[in-house]
Amino acid sequence: MSHLLRLLLFLIAVSPLTIRAAEPQPRPAAAGIASAHPLATQAGHEILARGGNAFDAAVAVAAALAVVEPYNSGLGGGGFFLLHRARDGFEIMIDARERAPLAATRDMYLDRDGRPVPGRSIDGALAAGIPGIPAGLVHLAEKYGRLPLKQSLAPAIRLARDGFPVTVQYGKMCLRQHDRLEHFPETARVFFHDGFIYGVGEKLRQPELARALERLAAAGRKGFYDGDVARRLVDGVRAAGGIWSLKDLADYRVIEREPVRGVYRNVRVTSAALPSSGGVVLMQMLNLLQGFDLDAMDKPRRDQIVIEAMRLAYRDRARYLGDADFVNVDVARLIDPAYAAKLREEMPALKPVSTAPAKTGEGSNTTHFSVVDRDGNRVAATLSLNTPFGSGFMPPGTGIVLNNEMDDFSVKPDAPNTYGLTGSDANAIAPGKRPLSSMTPTFLENGETVAVLGTPGGSRIISMVLLATLEFSHGRGGPKDWVSLPRFHHQYSPDVVAYEASAFDESERHALVRRGYRLEALRGGYGNMQLVVWNKKTGRVEAVSDPRGEGLGQVK
Ligand code: GLY
Repeated sequence: MSHLLRLLLFLIAVSPLTIRAAEPQPRPAAAGIASAHPLATQAGHEILARGGNAFDAAVAVAAALAVVEPYNSGLGGGGFFLLHRARDGFEIMIDARERAPLAATRDMYLDRDGRPVPGRSIDGALAAGIPGIPAGLVHLAEKYGRLPLKQSLAPAIRLARDGFPVTVQYGKMCLRQHDRLEHFPETARVFFHDGFIYGVGEKLRQPELARALERLAAAGRKGFYDGDVARRLVDGVRAAGGIWSLKDLADYRVIEREPVRGVYRNVRVTSAALPSSGGVVLMQMLNLLQGFDLDAMDKPRRDQIVIEAMRLAYRDRARYLGDADFVNVDVARLIDPAYAAKLREEMPALKPVSTAPAKTGEGSNTTHFSVVDRDGNRVAATLSLNTPFGSGFMPPGTGIVLNNEMDDFSVKPDAPNTYGLTGSDANAIAPGKRPLSSMTPTFLENGETVAVLGTPGGSRIISMVLLATLEFSHGRGGPKDWVSLPRFHHQYSPDVVAYEASAFDESERHALVRRGYRLEALRGGYGNMQLVVWNKKTGRVEAVSDPRGEGLGQVK
């Protein structure tokens, strides 16, 4: 071998690239799953124990949640799955968001005078977008999973067919929705006992839903978007005044999207891309806050700065954001720290905006779960029907409650939706378009620790993820503190700071009022954050579930 060749081989052998490749990748000492229901968390661990990876577990958890939390998500809904594959660091967001039916029109929820008809985008078949979760589960299993879809859906099928004991939360949701669901006889038949609410511990069986899940398991996407289930869905929707067609279902596809990425202090943030506003708004708020020495401030001052960052970022949400497959959104500019630096100049001059009275958000609709497996694969998934039990409508014989995600469109520019959010033309309704969401499945990573998190809560989702991100990034407290932290929220319009009672003490409340803020004290808590944290140095994994909910974080 020539001297030159030997030298070349030596250089290749000791090159930094080769040395890095040879380094063992850190691995978690255990797998962690946190979800809003213990049976869903257990379904995920069952699939891991059978040899599945985090992506198979995500299929199992999502499908189980569809059965045991039928008010928050399900086959009739949509959502976003954020994935990290350990083997090569590949990250992607699976957009399984609902689409507007092809017969949808911009003004479909307005009366002849151009005013939104109350309830039309919320109640009944006309409020439902074309569901994405079934396609999301199939895609996850086929492209990223190790196990056949059939195996990962088995725990959910069992829970639907054999029944599960209903919880306090199930009772509360049914009680709150009782009068509304009475208008939807099929839904009431499935979720009530001859019109009465199930007692805690009584078994709810959902044989029609079990059959729909079995179809999905046997036939993949065709089991939902084609054939018998599709026909029943379309016939049911049309008979109830909706506008779905078989083509709507046949055409539905999940879309793989590059997540939104950014850096706050020393933390790498990876979050949801459009059509969720989550990642853009989160990154904008963090960029705005990057210009302040928050650690040097007392709590009242710090909170005020955070409120102002929320105000500005939610303002841009209303002005610019929508489905980027339909409208031009300059995401790169919006999440550019240089743009935040310019916006920061506006902060001291911000004035209350005069808006029509509206709600400031919502607490717990939707669901979230987080998974880390023993290889370090991760999933953060936020899934929704929109408001509790979605549209309330269940096409007969399907066992599937349909979403009312069409209300997440701006049904008319500047008219507030159910969360009080307003929007522009960017989020106007168009056939096949996806409504703007606030769901914010997120990964945080500093040199040592990985956090996988998210929460339900309508427009308040993004501000909740922000508050937890700040605690993580500034090294305050640990995982349990991050999910239980008292919360506050501002969404630009209406100009109100909504807060949990313990978020501000009396002197802070007075200080905020003196500075001109309108405060809205919320009864009870909101959100239901699910978090898995993996310390790459020690291997330790923690899975924690928000104490406001009845979920379970479990490490095995
Ligand atoms: N439907 C709630 C959201 O997507 O933000």
